[in-house]
Amino acid sequence: MDKLVIQGGYPLEGDIRISGSKNATLPLLAATLLAPGSYRFTNVPSLRDVRTMSHLLRILGAQVTATDHELLMDTTHARYNEAPYELVKTMRASFYVLGPLVARLKEARVSLPGGCAWGPRPVDLHIKGMEALGAKVDLDEGYVVAKADKLKGAAFEFPISSVGATGNLLMAAVLASGTSVLKNCAVEPEITHLAKFLTRMGADIEGIGTRDMVVRGVSELHPVDAEMIPDRIETGTYLCAVGMAGGSVRITHCEPRHAVASIEAARRMGLEVAAGSDFLKVEKGKARLQSVAVTTEPYPGFPTDLQAPFMAMAALADGTSRITETIYRDRFTHVAELMRLGARISMDGETAVIEGRPELKAAPVMSTDLRASVCLVLAGLAAQGTTEVKRIYHLDRGYEKIEEKLSKVGARITREEGEL
Ligand code: UD1
Repeated sequence: MDKLVIQGGYPLEGDIRISGSKNATLPLLAATLLAPGSYRFTNVPSLRDVRTMSHLLRILGAQVTATDHELLMDTTHARYNEAPYELVKTMRASFYVLGPLVARLKEARVSLPGGCAWGPRPVDLHIKGMEALGAKVDLDEGYVVAKADKLKGAAFEFPISSVGATGNLLMAAVLASGTSVLKNCAVEPEITHLAKFLTRMGADIEGIGTRDMVVRGVSELHPVDAEMIPDRIETGTYLCAVGMAGGSVRITHCEPRHAVASIEAARRMGLEVAAGSDFLKVEKGKARLQSVAVTTEPYPGFPTDLQAPFMAMAALADGTSRITETIYRDRFTHVAELMRLGARISMDGETAVIEGRPELKAAPVMSTDLRASVCLVLAGLAAQGTTEVKRIYHLDRGYEKIEEKLSKVGARITREEGEL
């Protein structure tokens, strides 16, 4: 199993190109099930999660061809309706096929995803939403079985903001008969991207980008091509990389407007960040990072996916930082590993209290999930000595060629084949 070996202490200098967004790509792949035909997607990140979703689409009968950052899809013969446990358990976003499958094939069998490294991640809102649209939903041997001859538009209010449930319900509602009024929808850029894509396919959606959307069902949709938006989480992660290693980097091909919360948090910690239309210039001067208080929130608040990377920065900051997690309350598996590198962190309920130290010290550490992995890589950029980050298969789910992108700007980081 591969590991990353990082020699800390080398400042970063140069350009880092941001890839297309993973979380924008996955729902669009599922949405191709809604209209048979050919699609061409560009700026697609080369990631394991995208390959998993492509694999699932093939199981459902679609043809998917991947070339350099492009996906060619043909869903003409996508007529199977079962998303198997083996796939869904490795990637929860597979659950996105539920809405499209019921909408187009009248029935879907999608495995319940099960737990996650940092605790339970329910799908009850996806199910309640489908039921509101008239689907009959049962559980059969670990599979959610949803059936509806014809979904019917309805009013549904999400009790909490959910990216996945909003996407799923939107994809179901566009082909339902009548009008759906969806309240308290997630407004993450990836949902807006999906809603715009559906609209170009012929869907009738009002209120895109706001918490309340009105969907007037249409009888059919047609295939269209799409370009993926830049990955705002990858963007925020490389901001942190400069914070950890020091130096001056231009983060290119990004969408600064989607990264406002993380840019502001980075500035509060002492990074100089100048935003252009599609790039960020990030610089860290000689002074130590400043401590910070951040709380994760639904967009446009500070993203939970950047909680761990910012904790790595807080570990080096001058003063005591407080990082509060309100989206996934158990998402702290990285804390113990950061402490192996010398970070001083204690937990106060859902808040990590980080007493910043002037330096971190290298150690072997282990990835537990995607964002935890990347925060260990970031910590390795700053730690004195050689840090080994093991089990990096998590990293390959969501960060395209991280070691290449970082090496290109001066980091000493290599991928090696390693033991378990
Ligand atoms: C998506 C992102 C993930 C990000 C998360 C929050 C993708 C593929 N993944 O995940 O990277 O960390 O948004 O920004 O886009 N919840 C329920 N019941 C449900 C669904 C969700 O209680 O049926 C809860 C979750 O446990 C969590 C909160 O709602 O506490 C938000 O989760 P949600 O926005 O649905 O996350 P995902 O779509 O799974």
